[in-house]
Amino acid sequence: MDSTPDDATAQRRRVREGYDELARTYAAEREQDSEELALVEELYARIDGTRPRVVDAGCGDGGAASQPLLDLGAAVVGLDVSRSQLELASETVGRTVEGNAIPLVQGDLTSLPFEADVFDGICALHSIIHVPKAEHETVLEEFARVTAAGGWLLLTVGTGAWEGENPDWLDGGAAMRWSFHDAAWTRETLDDVGFTVADAWTIGDELGSEEWRYLLAQRA
Ligand SMILES: C[S@@+](CC[C@H](N)C(=O)[O-])C[C@H]1O[C@@H](n2cnc3c(N)ncnc32)[C@H](O)[C@@H]1O
Repeated sequence: MDSTPDDATAQRRRVREGYDELARTYAAEREQDSEELALVEELYARIDGTRPRVVDAGCGDGGAASQPLLDLGAAVVGLDVSRSQLELASETVGRTVEGNAIPLVQGDLTSLPFEADVFDGICALHSIIHVPKAEHETVLEEFARVTAAGGWLLLTVGTGAWEGENPDWLDGGAAMRWSFHDAAWTRETLDDVGFTVADAWTIGDELGSEEWRYLLAQRA
């Protein structure tokens, strides 16, 4: 059953508060395997130009995408809804080649605080899966809006649809919620909003027994 706007607001608060509480616990548990890192590198390789502008959408502490993209030469912006995650990213993501910290922005995937066509790439690892699924089309429309023509998106989605809550996620003392469509729905909707899926991979999750689908798509 799709969520009502009130459910969606409550879920967003639950996710934000959960990550505010669990940011350090999540960072300690998050281990990026080489397969996922290779996909972040693949995203970078597909993008044209030097110093491409890439947003890490739902960046967390920035270790999984912001840092490797920065190391590869991208001009990275980190966006997250959780203040604690952004604080952690400001502590742990390295400096740009010019010696500046990367811009970190508090914002929501459903209403990105960016102008249209400003990014050459978007990397959204394990973030849309926390947004109420009734709002996933809005998130994908937002991704299309802020991506310049020919830009690329790397997105993690569920292999199958699922919605639920863990009242004590990672034994960290806070609840967490997930809500997502299956990968076929996401592929079709990406197509509807102006992306073409060029590649897809399935990778297991080091935090559980889940498998996740990674979609690499290009903006028309
Ligand atoms: C599972 S963590 C992944 C973090 C990072 N991308 C990684 O792969 O390590 C999900 C992140 O998405 C953020 N997030 C969840 N819902 C969001 C929303 N509606 N808008 C922006 N960020 C959101 C969370 O705060 C959290 O930092």
